[in-house]
Amino acid sequence: MVKVDLSGANAFFTAAGPDYALASLAHQTLLDRSGLGADFTGWVTLPRKIKETELDRIVAAADKIRARSKALVVIGIGGSYLGARGAIELLRPIPAAGDPKVFFVGNGLSADYLNDVLAQLGEDDFDVNVISKSGTTLEPAVSFRIFRELLAKKYGAKADEHIFATTDARRGALKSLADRQGWESFVVPDDVGGRFSVLSAVGLLPMAVAGIDVKAVVDAAIRELDALCVPGRENPAWQYAAARQNLYNKGYGVEILGCYEPSFRFMAEWWKQLYGESEGKDGKGIFPASVEYTADLHSMGQFIQEGPRMLMESVVRFAKARSGYEVPFDEADGDGLNYIAGRDLNEVCRIAADAVKEAHISGGVPNIVIEAGARDEEGFAALVCFFEFACAISGYMSGVNPFNQPGVEAYKKNMFRMLGKPGAV
Ligand code: PA5
Repeated sequence: MVKVDLSGANAFFTAAGPDYALASLAHQTLLDRSGLGADFTGWVTLPRKIKETELDRIVAAADKIRARSKALVVIGIGGSYLGARGAIELLRPIPAAGDPKVFFVGNGLSADYLNDVLAQLGEDDFDVNVISKSGTTLEPAVSFRIFRELLAKKYGAKADEHIFATTDARRGALKSLADRQGWESFVVPDDVGGRFSVLSAVGLLPMAVAGIDVKAVVDAAIRELDALCVPGRENPAWQYAAARQNLYNKGYGVEILGCYEPSFRFMAEWWKQLYGESEGKDGKGIFPASVEYTADLHSMGQFIQEGPRMLMESVVRFAKARSGYEVPFDEADGDGLNYIAGRDLNEVCRIAADAVKEAHISGGVPNIVIEAGARDEEGFAALVCFFEFACAISGYMSGVNPFNQPGVEAYKKNMFRMLGKPGAV
């Protein structure tokens, strides 16, 4: 399990401190399935279910793709995209020799981006994993139409064998197409919303193609979720949820999530969707933003230190680094760096992180540290389960339904009308 350190936030809490009684109630509501949106809490048991149902088939499909293709094109947006990208960039930021490249498309409508991906794809053999629970989302649907045409040109009658569809078990345009064309299909479970779906085929198939040990991820997630179900003040999801709600009630309306590993960037994007879509409704919510340290200390650092005092900061740290590098000694010391010569970069980074924490706290920014074990399958599973659990608890604590997203329909309605979609008003 991750460890949450609230020592940097204690001084900022209300006199009563984080409301663990309310966290307990929210936790119970989640586990009882008695709260708002309870029909979408299937992610709590998802790893156990996927192990019994689709996991072997996901691994077999990934092995097939890895054996025959140089690339996998993953088509999806939002919850059908960010988790897989976050996992792959965190765990396999640079593909190992022989690993297929994984390209993400359908997450926007930029022709330039699409053409850049096509240029990188070149003449390589590739497979497509189209992911859409509804099957009607415009961005992935347009990309999929384009890639189906490319596959047909490249593979002719065998094009359908290169398509893997991840979608609803029964409904939707993509499901109907997949059945008609005979594409190998995987399920986005009915009771799991997009942003909570990374541990279904939505995330696991692209991850497995990238060389991630998804069986290890699922096993670790089963253990993590079991542990997170145990009530108590030691539960890190209670600690994080109760702390951020307390700070929100004191006027800290923006949370920045930071990490000292650049490979965490898309995990932060995944987190932003998870918390933004789950909590930002009914006129409430903590605005989730992210920073990449130490780079952003040289761009956002000024604002964080001295801008309006509305920020809380949560920092993800990994207890164990994957590798090290010693700062070399230089006789001439022209750059004046010999005072750190012989020290490992990890140590320098750790000290920098401590210095940043101290500075930000003294500047009035409450600080929460979330420590995971390592940048590996287990560490990834621990972070995902922790953030999902804490998000549900935090949402229930604030009185919203953490599992719907009615607000995202407004722009779609306008867009479909302006594009002239039949029936759109
Ligand atoms: O979390 C969500 O529900 C959304 O982000 C969806 O995942 C996103 O809009 C994509 O939807 P779909 O998978 O239906 O194409």
